Amino acid sequence: MKAIGDRTHYCTELTESDIGKEVIVKGWAAKRRDFGGLIFVDLRDRTGILQIVFDASETPDFALAEKVRGEYVLAVRGKLRSRSEDRINPKIKTGTIEVLALEAQILSDSDTPPFEIDEAEKVNEMTRLKYRYLDLRTDKMTEIMRLRSEMMHVTRSYLHKHGFWEIETPYLGKSTPEGARDYLVPSRIKNGAFYALPQSPQLYKQLLMIGGADKYYQIARCFRDEDLRANRQPEFTQIDMEMSFVTQKQVMDLSYGLVREIFKKCGGVKLPAKIREMPYDEAMRRFGSDKPDTRFGLELIDISDIAKGCGFQVFERAVENVGGSVRMINAKGFVDEDNLILSRRDIDALGEFVKTFKAKGLAWISVRKNGELLSSITKFMSEDTVKAILDRADAKPGDILLFCADKDEVVYKALGALRLHLAEKGNLIDKSKYDVLWVVDFPMFEYSDEEKRFVAVHHPFTMPHENDLDILESDPGKVRAAAYDLVINGEESGGGSLRIHDRALQKRIFNILGFSDEQIEERFGFFVNAFKYGAPPHGGLAFGFDRLVMMLAHTDNIKDVITFPKIQNASDMMTQAPTPVDKKQTDELGLRIVEAL
Ligand code: AMO
Ligand code: AMP
Repeated sequence: MKAIGDRTHYCTELTESDIGKEVIVKGWAAKRRDFGGLIFVDLRDRTGILQIVFDASETPDFALAEKVRGEYVLAVRGKLRSRSEDRINPKIKTGTIEVLALEAQILSDSDTPPFEIDEAEKVNEMTRLKYRYLDLRTDKMTEIMRLRSEMMHVTRSYLHKHGFWEIETPYLGKSTPEGARDYLVPSRIKNGAFYALPQSPQLYKQLLMIGGADKYYQIARCFRDEDLRANRQPEFTQIDMEMSFVTQKQVMDLSYGLVREIFKKCGGVKLPAKIREMPYDEAMRRFGSDKPDTRFGLELIDISDIAKGCGFQVFERAVENVGGSVRMINAKGFVDEDNLILSRRDIDALGEFVKTFKAKGLAWISVRKNGELLSSITKFMSEDTVKAILDRADAKPGDILLFCADKDEVVYKALGALRLHLAEKGNLIDKSKYDVLWVVDFPMFEYSDEEKRFVAVHHPFTMPHENDLDILESDPGKVRAAAYDLVINGEESGGGSLRIHDRALQKRIFNILGFSDEQIEERFGFFVNAFKYGAPPHGGLAFGFDRLVMMLAHTDNIKDVITFPKIQNASDMMTQAPTPVDKKQTDELGLRIVEAL
């Protein structure tokens, strides 16, 4: 049989203005309906569906249509015509037209697929991932693939327009401590030695600045062997950028400009030209989080001053400790008797919820309609104390105050999470809105009880805040970093910093972190050496590209935006990777498997 010629159109490119044309379309048989002398096939390609009619009286290849089953791959030559009135389908783009088949060919047949493409939404995720190539045929996944590609394209053109060069950096690199766990690749040539896959191109991009590249970007794959979550994958993609001779403001403006451009061009979303910058301290104090979702209230309220000597021992003890506090959230209207959001049982469940964040309990006071108080703790306190708390919370009938007393770290974690949980429960978030802000002035160091030393919050090459240089050694815990995160809807979508380019300053930082010269040499020798030969001032940022796609694709599941993702245990449902390998391979690498799982 003579092959049907080249495709003339994608399925949904055809419109009523093409009626009368002879066309060639190719794709999958999404649906087939047989009415004897008349067979309808919904042909699907990546653009959507087009109806093909095989008419026994007009289609010479009619017998072929009888053989077609779901997911067969077809080529069809035919004439575009309008549908008869009764066959119009307003739900699809091509609902008023159809192709009368004149010639057709089965390019590939198909077994009965494990699920109907149309019904994929109802199929469990494991099955969809096992047959990901089928899942990718669904409208939802096709659209996400298109969106992601478009976002990459817009990213590249924006950055090129702003003078950036796209430069690749190695995947096979050196394992450096700090950060998450590395994925290691054993060397065949040098048994016992390992490459590490990059957790990010951080060191390379700084070396590129020393190398004179001036403005670098890369849509870079990063590898981190950490526990997966709804917004985390072991391999993920960053839009990674670095610039020389820039201020923090320039990096922030340029990178936010990129996000605005992506949202506008790929999502039709107009983000404000100017967004606010919230210091880290304020974010923690008000929202208990360094990535605050500011689309709703339920802010944290400090009552440590009232708690001092309040009579309730749990509160008193918490504020006696250094770095301890008592804070509350007023869940306004959550116990309104006419519109109850939190029942007694729910309140107990919240107590359990905060315990997962290491809080010891969740004390509460609720105000009934008649002004009467219900509480687990008022019995321990004087009337004046209770009144002071209610006043500070601006408590009204229907409100419930929820308290956490502990080290600040625990209070913030617990109440920060509780706040988000309550917002979901009370349906307080307008999901159609995008809330974008910078969080700035992150702390430079945090004290590690485990290691009994200060560790870098971002990384050891982050520039300290220019106003804090004179307290570096005397009060490291108070030093702020020239670091910034872009937060969208309570999600860290990207972050970066200015880097240290001055050798003397870098040495001071290493000293504070407690690294000896030998340790520096061993860990980052190649990197630190480069700074001996003229390092320009530089800074940069990386966006979590998958997270940006998630936002415009309106999904909470990062697996939806990655074509072939890993599941919870970091394995791939389709290929079953990671899998054991031949002994010959491990022998070559000089590896012996002690105990396979
Ligand atoms: P950071 O570690 O903050 O910074 O990463 C930048 C952004 O990448 C995203 N991200 C992830 N996305 C999916 N899965 C993961 N496992 C994952 N981990 C991080 C987040 C995050 O904001 N080199 C620095 C950037 C710099 O300083 O220039 C870095 O990697 O959205
Ligand atoms: P108790 O007297 O231990 O039963 O505690 C009274 C109330 O205080 C209970 O609702 C506990 O959940 C709560 N509670 C206990 N420890 C804390 C804490 N560290 N912070 C806040 N509430 C607490």
